Amino acid sequence: MTCSILVGGAWGDEGKGKCITYLCDNDKPDIIARAGVGPNAGHSVEFNGEKYGLRLTPSGFVHTDAKLMIGAGVLVNPDVLFDEFEKLKKYNIKERMSVDPRCAIITEEHMSRDKASEHLAKKIGSTGSGCGPANSDRVLRTIGLAKDSPVLEDYITDVSVAVNEAIDNGEEVFIEGSQGFALSLYYGTYPFVTSKDTTASTFAADVGVGPTKVDEVINVFKSYISRVGEGPFPTEMTQEEAESKGLEEYGVVTGRRRRIGYFDMELAKESCRINGATQIALTCVDRLFDCARVQDYDQLSAETKAFIEDIQTETGVPVTIISTGPDLKDTIDLRKELL
Ligand code: GTP
Ligand code: IMP
Ligand code: MG
Repeated sequence: MTCSILVGGAWGDEGKGKCITYLCDNDKPDIIARAGVGPNAGHSVEFNGEKYGLRLTPSGFVHTDAKLMIGAGVLVNPDVLFDEFEKLKKYNIKERMSVDPRCAIITEEHMSRDKASEHLAKKIGSTGSGCGPANSDRVLRTIGLAKDSPVLEDYITDVSVAVNEAIDNGEEVFIEGSQGFALSLYYGTYPFVTSKDTTASTFAADVGVGPTKVDEVINVFKSYISRVGEGPFPTEMTQEEAESKGLEEYGVVTGRRRRIGYFDMELAKESCRINGATQIALTCVDRLFDCARVQDYDQLSAETKAFIEDIQTETGVPVTIISTGPDLKDTIDLRKELL
């Protein structure tokens, strides 16, 4: 069985939510563990005609036999988590969720500092979810941990022990990263980045898994690029151009309009290298080419296939998942052919 990590290849919002839901619904992992920064993420999941925007709950929740976990490296805002328990009540999230005792806790004060800070809110364009101030308090070693939070008492489990035991027992483990490569504190467009590294190695560390235990790293790219907040964006197009191509987008957490640009091959190559990608999932192909809901590779146009094959050749990584719409069914899965 396999331990997989899913990562974002650019500035977030690559369609990770859709890919995770598809992969978990299909592969039925025993554990789905959330890695990444915290509730600054907004993953969109469309399933059975319903639409959810998730900030902390693993997007693989639709696979109802899986245990759901939040790894030690992830910042937890209990209010956000409990709100998602309510919204996803029929999926028994509350009953399946574990939180590592070492997770740091975001408070109102972190959110206020994030929103009031000229530097974070204005210059960087943070999501205002308190992640930056909370991670800085973690570095200063002044933040409270989940193990000391009475409201999380019922959910505390050593995620690292659970995940490593599952791997050793030959179970399937899926690690969900959030944000994206170009938002990494180390490898992104500093200072216009998030408050932590966002590459596969850190996501493994977030849930307490060593690099020798990881089998697959799935790097998700959208067929064009989007970015919320400030900072460099080499392939950005004008808003008029994005509108004329029908590529307008708005953020899940903040509702802000996303900046839009062309696919960036140099970024894709760097992102695959530093993440150690073994597979690429390519989303929103239907928004660039006329192929909505196509499920068979042979039905794609020659132009679409050339675009996909170019990415594969340039990065040296097989494009195994091609997404042609927001629903789970709108997926071409080439893993059997390519792996
Ligand atoms: P982050 O964790 O913030 O990166 O979230 P994300 O990667 O899950 O992306 P997000 O949900 O913020 O934005 C992606 C949007 O595209 C959502 O509205 C999805 O429903 C939608 N989407 C995902 N895949 C496809 C696709 O292949 N085609 C189309 N048309 N829409 C898609
Ligand atoms: P912060 O992580 O809230 O401090 O925001 C820092 C930068 O990262 C801002 O430009 C945000 O818009 C961006 N960012 C953080 N998380 C996400 C995400 O999940 N998707 C897209 N952008 C994000
Ligand atoms: Mg998003």
